[in-house]
Amino acid sequence: MEPREYDEWYKKSIENRDEFWDKIARELDWFEPWDKVWEWNEPFARWFVGAKCNIAYNILERNATTWRKNKLAIIWEGENGEIRTLSYYQLAQECEKFAAVLKSFGVRKGDRVTIYLPRIPEQIISMLTCAKIGAVHNVVYSGLSVEALSERIRDSQSKILITADGSYMHGRTLELKKIADEALSRSPTIEACIVVRRIGEKMIVNMEPGRDYWYHELMALRLANEVKTEVMDAEDPLFILYTSGTTGKPKGVVHAHGGYMVGTYITTKVDFDLKEEDTYWCTGDAGWITGHSYVVYGPLLNGATEIIYEGAVNYPYPDKWWSIIERYGVSIFYTTPTAIRGLMRFGDAWTKRHNLSSLRILGTVGEPINPVAWDWLYTVVGNGRCPIVDTYWQTETGMHTITTIPGMKMKPGWAGKPFFGIESLVVDDKGKPVRAQEIGHLVLKPSWPSMLRGLYNDPERYREKYWTTIPGYYYTGDAAKIDEEGYIQIIGREDDVIKVSGYRLGSAEIESAIVSHPGVNEAAVIPKPDELKGNIIKAFVVLKQGVEPSNELKQEIIEHVAHELGSIAKPSEIEFVESLPKTRSGKIMRRLLRAKEVGTEAGDLSTLEQ
Ligand code: WT7
Repeated sequence: MEPREYDEWYKKSIENRDEFWDKIARELDWFEPWDKVWEWNEPFARWFVGAKCNIAYNILERNATTWRKNKLAIIWEGENGEIRTLSYYQLAQECEKFAAVLKSFGVRKGDRVTIYLPRIPEQIISMLTCAKIGAVHNVVYSGLSVEALSERIRDSQSKILITADGSYMHGRTLELKKIADEALSRSPTIEACIVVRRIGEKMIVNMEPGRDYWYHELMALRLANEVKTEVMDAEDPLFILYTSGTTGKPKGVVHAHGGYMVGTYITTKVDFDLKEEDTYWCTGDAGWITGHSYVVYGPLLNGATEIIYEGAVNYPYPDKWWSIIERYGVSIFYTTPTAIRGLMRFGDAWTKRHNLSSLRILGTVGEPINPVAWDWLYTVVGNGRCPIVDTYWQTETGMHTITTIPGMKMKPGWAGKPFFGIESLVVDDKGKPVRAQEIGHLVLKPSWPSMLRGLYNDPERYREKYWTTIPGYYYTGDAAKIDEEGYIQIIGREDDVIKVSGYRLGSAEIESAIVSHPGVNEAAVIPKPDELKGNIIKAFVVLKQGVEPSNELKQEIIEHVAHELGSIAKPSEIEFVESLPKTRSGKIMRRLLRAKEVGTEAGDLSTLEQ
């Protein structure tokens, strides 16, 4: 797309927003059409009002009954070198079989199912099966641990948990079922736990009779030949995905069938210039929104062939990813700046020993990409031929909201411009647009199809978090700049959300995990800039009276956080302190700790308790 073309299209999409989204929605299959494209009742949006559809129908039936029937949907490679492929037909068959299984457990439309699986095909099969029968999936990343999992099960009141015996992680095995067992003892809503066998005989797992069942045994029962795809209202919930907020409790972001389907479908198609013959690879995990939108729904709605690699970026060798691109002829490669920086560190030789000429489009997501990493991706990986699309969005937005589109002028470090049909602004505290190159709050004008429909069971928190900071606009929580040409640069979070390697973590969540250690009285965590990960977590810890500070204790606290929340939430640095700076009302002033650590101005300190 020529730069001029973008501007023309964009203008049209905003001037005739309803017509624009109406036309795109018609590219998909609906059981019944809509009466109205969208409706706004602040802060609640409804899209494709009155329409009936099912997102899974548009992936399974739609592709499995056309010429795409035998096209590969998924090429999966395990960390141990195992390979599995699934055509659209096979994917539909697996979901049909699993739908019969879930139904036999009494799962009905609207019921919540928690999925705690590693990056294996069953993760996707489980999600699509839930969608097919109208159940609401709640996927928990397999790197999260006991408390994070049980909290998400409890809050969503899930009846069913789908997990695995274990997972592979850097050549080691992680005992997922064991973590799940501990989480289940804290979450009483689960009636049945379905266990996928990933590791097999090498791993002994506890199977509780009457509660725990092996996936492969249930699938072998062939409970029904055909399971009807549920007819959903476009506004019926498709999934809940928990994401870190500013308080200890994660937010259950809710997305709906119809709008989410349209948003992920079109952004995958346009932003990656997706063609039928592409081999698409998004390295994200379906445990996060990137995987929901751009591993599971977006590419499969488009009938793409995609790669899924179970392992980590550098395992077993630093060129594992490059070898995957070469072997499968990957043409679209979508990953995070952290991964790029990590791969860059190994030196160009690892990259250059592979033929990467199949690459056509490169994409990044999750955090700002620094120009050095951008240059390396562009020249060494893309050989100066491939556009880089920097896609800015959030769990809440469901789809890319600000992005570079292939063909548009690229500005390293600047995400790009708003996607068609979306209006974004950078404003001051009063909601007035700032001048070019000035920093302000990034806000979005309501609404776009895949906007979150709310926070699960918490309409007040939803209103307060997103719709009160800048009245009339959706508040992203990010600081940004806009330039003379309308390009937007993301500066970073304005709230207490910490981005580590592109993962989103809440300071309060980590603090409560630290404080649940018996030796700890109080804690405050802050992001500390890091060249590789963007940020690391630094914790300031006040010990209980009589508890002696030591390096062993630091280690113990770190391990405790890993056990409760998962390794990604581990503080990299702990400093024992006598007290924490607080406001007169008793709120910890993380801002002050951060300023001290990073050496910047602390800002307004008038509320500090002296
Ligand atoms: C936050 C949302 C959405 C996919 C993964 C993260 C940051 C996201 C970019 C980008 C700069 C970015 C923002 C945002 N972010 N993409 N291209 N450039 N920053 O989803 O976990 O909901 O995090 O990630 O701070 O608010 P998430």
